[in-house]
Amino acid sequence: MKITIFGTGYVGLVQAAVMAESGYDVVCVDVDAAKIARLACGEMPIFEPGLERLVRDNHAAGRLHFTTDAAEGVLHATIQFIAVGTPPDEDGSADLNNVLAVGKAIAATMDGHRIVVAKSTVPVGTCDKISKIMKLTLAETGRKDLTFDVASNPEFLKEGSAVADCMKPDRIVIGTSNRETEAVLRELYAPFNRNHEKIIVMDVRSAELTKYAANCMLATKITFMNEMANLAEALGADIERVRQGIGSDPRIGYQFIYPGVGYGGSCFPKDVRALIHIADRVAYDAKVLTAVDEQNRKQKSVLFHKILKHFGGDITGKVFALWGLAFKPNTDDMREAPSRTIMEALWQAGAKVQAFDPEAMRECRRIYGERHELVLSRNKEAALIGADALVIVTEWKAFLGPDFEYIKKALTHSVIFDGRNLYDPEVVSRYDLDYHSIGRVQFN
Ligand code: UGA
Repeated sequence: MKITIFGTGYVGLVQAAVMAESGYDVVCVDVDAAKIARLACGEMPIFEPGLERLVRDNHAAGRLHFTTDAAEGVLHATIQFIAVGTPPDEDGSADLNNVLAVGKAIAATMDGHRIVVAKSTVPVGTCDKISKIMKLTLAETGRKDLTFDVASNPEFLKEGSAVADCMKPDRIVIGTSNRETEAVLRELYAPFNRNHEKIIVMDVRSAELTKYAANCMLATKITFMNEMANLAEALGADIERVRQGIGSDPRIGYQFIYPGVGYGGSCFPKDVRALIHIADRVAYDAKVLTAVDEQNRKQKSVLFHKILKHFGGDITGKVFALWGLAFKPNTDDMREAPSRTIMEALWQAGAKVQAFDPEAMRECRRIYGERHELVLSRNKEAALIGADALVIVTEWKAFLGPDFEYIKKALTHSVIFDGRNLYDPEVVSRYDLDYHSIGRVQFN
C-alpha cells in the first residue's frame, strides 16, 4: 500500500516511520526544506525514543521518502494524510490555514480518487471545511468529475513514547460514513489491529470531538488532582495517600492522577483552550474547561509561591538549582512547560537559575538565549554547586534516587522544592533537608 503524509511534526513523522516499518511505501511532504533535507540524512528534528532508527532504516530500504514537492506527494498515493500543525491563534482557537492549504494542494493536483485523512487535531467541522475547499478547487480547475472523501482519524500518541504508542495503539478511531473509505482504512490499519479489535468507526464529527474529549478529560483529571493536592495541604492531609486511596477504584484508575506543577506540552493547554472556543462558537459556555485552564495556569506558580514564602518574600540574588526543563520526561519539548513559568518568575524576582535537563538543554538555550541569570549546568550535581536551594520540575528517572548527602553539602540553604513528589518526605528529613512538595504536609 502507498500513502502520503503531509507534515513531518510529531504526529506525521512518527506515523510515517511506523507505517513504513510495516512495509508501506510512504512519502512525507513538508514545506520546510531544511527539515526535509536533514530528515533525508537521518537527522531527527525531535528527540523521540526509537524514531531515529526507524527513519534511517526505512529511508535506506526505500520505503520512506522525503520531499517538499506537494505534487509528488499527491500523485504518489490514494491515501493522503494531513498531519500539519494547527497552532493556536491569538485567541486560542486553532489556526486551520495549514490544514486547508494541504486540502487545496491535493485537489489542485490529484489525478484520480483520493482519500484525505485528517490526523491533525482539528476543531469539529474541519473535515467539512476541507471538503468544501477541495470541491471549490476542483470546480475552479475544471475537474469536477474527480472524486474524493475526507475522513477523520485522530492520533492519540504521547510524546516520549510516540513510536511505541503508534505501533501499539489502544484504539484506532476512524471517522467516516463512507463504506469504501472505511474498508481502505481498515486494510491500512490491519497491521496495527491484530489480536483484538481496536478500530472504532464513527461519523466524522464524533471522531473530531473524540480527540478533544480525550485530551480535555485527561487535563481535567490532572487539574482535579492538583486541586485536591492544594486542599490536602491546607487541611493537613497527604495527597499521595489520597491518590492511592482513590486510584484503587477501577472507575477512577491510577493513571493521570499524579499531582504536580500543572500540565504542559503542545497538546493539553492548546486543546483545552481550543475546545472552549469551539463551544463558544455554538454559544455553549464550557465552564468546566474554563476552570481547568485557569486552575492549571495558577498551578504552574504554586512552587514559586512556596519558594518565595520560604525565603520570607525576598529572593533577590538567590541562586536556584533547577532539575528538569522539559514539560515531561523522555522529551526535549519545552512548549508550555511549567519550568518556564517557574524560571521566569524566579528571574522576575531577582534570582538566578542553574538548570539541568537530560535532553532539553539545547531547547532551553534556543528559547532563552545567553543570559546572565541562566546557567545551563553539565549535570545535575553541577547545578547544585553554589545554589541556595533545589527546585525539581520534571520527573526524569535520573532524579529519582539522588545523593541527598551531596545535595545537603552543596546547597547553601538545605531546602528542596519538589514539584513532582519524587521522594518520601521522611527519608529526605533524615538528611536534615527541608522538603516542600505538592499536597503533602511539610516534613522537617
Ligand atoms: C497528550 C495525550 O496524553 C496523548 O494521548 C495525546 O495524543 C497527545 O497529548 C496529543 O494530543 O498529541 P502529551 O502531551 O505527549 O500527550 O503528554 P502527557 O503524557 O499526556 O502529559 C501531559 C502533561 O500532563 C505533562 O505536563 C505531564 O507532566 C502532566 N501530567 C500527566 C500530570 O501533571 N499528572 C499526571 O498524572 C499525568
